[in-house]
Amino acid sequence: MINGKVAIITGASSGIGEATAMTLAKAGVKVAIGARRVDRLEELSKKIIAEGGEVHFQKLDVTKREECDNFAKAVLDKWGSIDILVNNAGLMPLSFFKNLKVDEWDRMVDVNIKGVLYCTGSVISHMKEKKSGHIVNLSSVAGRVVFPAGSVYCATKFAVAAFTEGLRQEFSVRSNIRVTSIEPGIVATELTDTITDESLQQFVENGKKMETLQAQDIANAILYAVDSPPHVNVNEVLIRPTTQEK
Ligand SMILES: NC(=O)c1ccc[n+]([C@@H]2O[C@H](COP(=O)([O-])OP(=O)(O)OC[C@H]3O[C@@H](n4cnc5c(N)ncnc54)[C@H](OP(=O)(O)O)[C@@H]3O)[C@@H](O)[C@H]2O)c1
Repeated sequence: MINGKVAIITGASSGIGEATAMTLAKAGVKVAIGARRVDRLEELSKKIIAEGGEVHFQKLDVTKREECDNFAKAVLDKWGSIDILVNNAGLMPLSFFKNLKVDEWDRMVDVNIKGVLYCTGSVISHMKEKKSGHIVNLSSVAGRVVFPAGSVYCATKFAVAAFTEGLRQEFSVRSNIRVTSIEPGIVATELTDTITDESLQQFVENGKKMETLQAQDIANAILYAVDSPPHVNVNEVLIRPTTQEK
């Protein structure tokens, strides 16, 4: 069903974005992959091509609106359509608020919220005009449950969840654009690498000892959502490792 469609995946240089790009490409989707680490994108592109897939890669910093617009334009110039947007780029430098890591708050707001708005803004007119499309946003269990040292990160993921529901109300019925909020629990990726609050060292180590989800598990959920028949709008997918309590 999605064979031949075109998808943009942000933050595709590692983790969930990388696994999603490969999974969609194997399903016959033309994938446009963006992130700041272009060397990683180039490596992934080679792997996708080796699997017989079609790929476009380009540097993308989702905090820069112009880069988001240019990225979407390049994809439209190349393939003439954007059918799926996976707003995956994100970071999680957890910290206790009292430590006032203001730069990290700013980056989370800029990437996790504003990046999602900018990238969605870059494709929405096109999807609206052709009356079809699918926007997949990476929220989190942290978009449903707040935990200590996660106040800012959770705030960004609650924002993504709210934005996703707002998109559904505005565009699903009127413009046939489907929307999905993907809400993973703990997934083994590089996401915890940005944590600088030393008091969270133990928390990070404990997470590494758990039987977590793999990026592929989330890619499978994204494939399920985007490959569902047109009348099915998979609005939310919440996935925890079996061993994760909260
Ligand atoms: N891992 C988990 O446990 C978990 C759970 C729930 C939700 N999530 C969400 O899943 C998404 C993917 O995270 P992940 O776990 O796969 O972590 P990851 O491996 O660290 O991947 C994050 C991706 O975001 C990209 N990124 C960061 N800043 C960017 C920017 N300014 N512009 C463009 N791309 C940027 C990174 O690429 P560059 O550095 O190359 O730009 C990287 O490819 C995030 O939104 C995260 O919040 C993860």
